[in-house]
Amino acid sequence: MIVLSKRDTIISASLLSADFANLGRDCTRAAESGCDWLHFDVMDGMFVPSISFGEPVLKCTAAVASLPLDVHMMVTEPARYIERYAALGAAGITVHSEACEDVAAALRLIRSLGRRVGLSIKPATPVDSIVKYLDLVDMVLVMTVEPGFGGQAFMPETLPKIRELRRISDEQGLDLDIQVDGGINGETASIVKEAGANVLVSGSYLFSAEDMRAAVDSLRR
Ligand code: DX5
Ligand code: ZN
Repeated sequence: MIVLSKRDTIISASLLSADFANLGRDCTRAAESGCDWLHFDVMDGMFVPSISFGEPVLKCTAAVASLPLDVHMMVTEPARYIERYAALGAAGITVHSEACEDVAAALRLIRSLGRRVGLSIKPATPVDSIVKYLDLVDMVLVMTVEPGFGGQAFMPETLPKIRELRRISDEQGLDLDIQVDGGINGETASIVKEAGANVLVSGSYLFSAEDMRAAVDSLRR
């Protein structure tokens, strides 16, 4: 097994932009194009306006996917689902700080199940509000659009939060993965990497590309 160092750029293909009638084919396409993870966006129509997919789709995806499944829970009180998502094949689970009554308990639950622990913040949520949780997580997801939909434009005002998190991680020796999600393409990738992000989620840019491998390479460069 290849272990990715935390400073390598990790590319996570967001299945929200896949062809749902050919999900297995698109999982294979992402793997063959050089992606590292598959990003699985769960939306409940409450925490975010839209509803995407959930447990039955995760089960089918896990059965065919060769890449780790990186589950992004855009769900109110995600702790209700964590054990089931872990059992169905999530390699990592990311919850939103804004969605949890008890953030630390949700993070500890993910850890107790042996999955990678992620904590996400929406564009308007400050880094200050999650500093107390950083020793419980492997990864922080800085949303670079308002969560809920693929295909939106990157919000440059989120860049100072990426820089602040990388600084805190370095100062405290936390070695955090910093993930970005929303509007990531060949242009914005270099900007977020320069700011300190090392895990890049990309949906519409990758799945609409005629040559997905070239698109993946353009995110890594
Ligand atoms: C949005 C989702 C994203 C989405 C990104 O709320 O969390 O993962 O699929 O899509 P793009 O890359 O098209 O902005
Ligand atoms: Zn996402």
